[in-house]
Amino acid sequence: MGAGVAIGELHVPVLLTETLDALRPHAGGRYLDATVGLGGHAEALLIESAPTGHLYGLDRDAETLVLAKERLRQFGDRVELFQGDFAMLGAIAAENGWGPFDGILFDLGFSSFQLDDASRGFSFMRDGPLDMRMDRHGDGISAAELLAKLSEREIERVLQDYSEERWARRIAARIVQDRREQPLTSTAQLARLVAAAVPRRAWPRRIHVATRTFQALRIAVNDELAGLRRGLQDAIGLLATGGRICIISFHSLEDRIVKETFRGWARSDPPRVHLLTKRPVIATEREIEVNLRARSAKLRAAERC
Ligand SMILES: C[S@@+](CC[C@H](N)C(=O)[O-])C[C@H]1O[C@@H](n2cnc3c(N)ncnc32)[C@H](O)[C@@H]1O
Repeated sequence: MGAGVAIGELHVPVLLTETLDALRPHAGGRYLDATVGLGGHAEALLIESAPTGHLYGLDRDAETLVLAKERLRQFGDRVELFQGDFAMLGAIAAENGWGPFDGILFDLGFSSFQLDDASRGFSFMRDGPLDMRMDRHGDGISAAELLAKLSEREIERVLQDYSEERWARRIAARIVQDRREQPLTSTAQLARLVAAAVPRRAWPRRIHVATRTFQALRIAVNDELAGLRRGLQDAIGLLATGGRICIISFHSLEDRIVKETFRGWARSDPPRVHLLTKRPVIATEREIEVNLRARSAKLRAAERC
């Protein structure tokens, strides 16, 4: 973080008003932010639930959590933060004596703080090591290691399954061909490779030609979709009757999981939730103008019966 940059400027929370409308924080309430990030949503939940609301925050990324701690220190013992993966939410909550909660938030994906740090390897816009791990001090493998070890067919499957990339076969073939010459270790190298593999006439107009490949690898490196399914199942078990759950997702694969999970809960006998959003809530034009990240955000919310 550069000198003089406030933590709040490193990442602008998306759909903030809509999140507060969905969760309706109140004094005395207990809230879980399963992806606390830079603490933007968490701070608003604490302000709205003053003076006695409590916030429990989780993030997989240790570096992010240091900044969240600093930002939320002003709220004293109303805040408890923990480094961990929401896929392990049930175990983490049991270990720390957390829950039941009146509100639970998952704001998925990564923050602008992570994206802007070239050394994390999330972005094709900045050259850096091909890492992409949310928790780079954990024992998971990096995107570079993954691309070195998977077969051509497996790479193709990752690209198809996690980003619906039309050119998966060609990109996978190119990766395997190029890695024979030299290992793939940098984001710029991978972005150039994708651009060379996809015919220029087929480049997407609204996004970079490598966007999908980077998304797919990030999902695979962090096992994001299976983790989301597990996290949601743990979360519903931790929600108090009348408590609300709110999920913000950033691509169709995540949104599909959230939609289907919520529907399953609503249709079970007896129903476990009633849906607060029949269709996902999306950002206003005004929000998108000031925060481009909000363009792909979708919010779904439900209330525990
Ligand atoms: C979009 S950011 C959250 C931003 C936050 N709402 C704010 O206003 O500052 C998503 C955060 O989720 C974290 N994250 C992603 N997957 C996670 C997981 N499986 N478990 C815990 N945290 C995760 C990322 O490290 C990142 O900090």
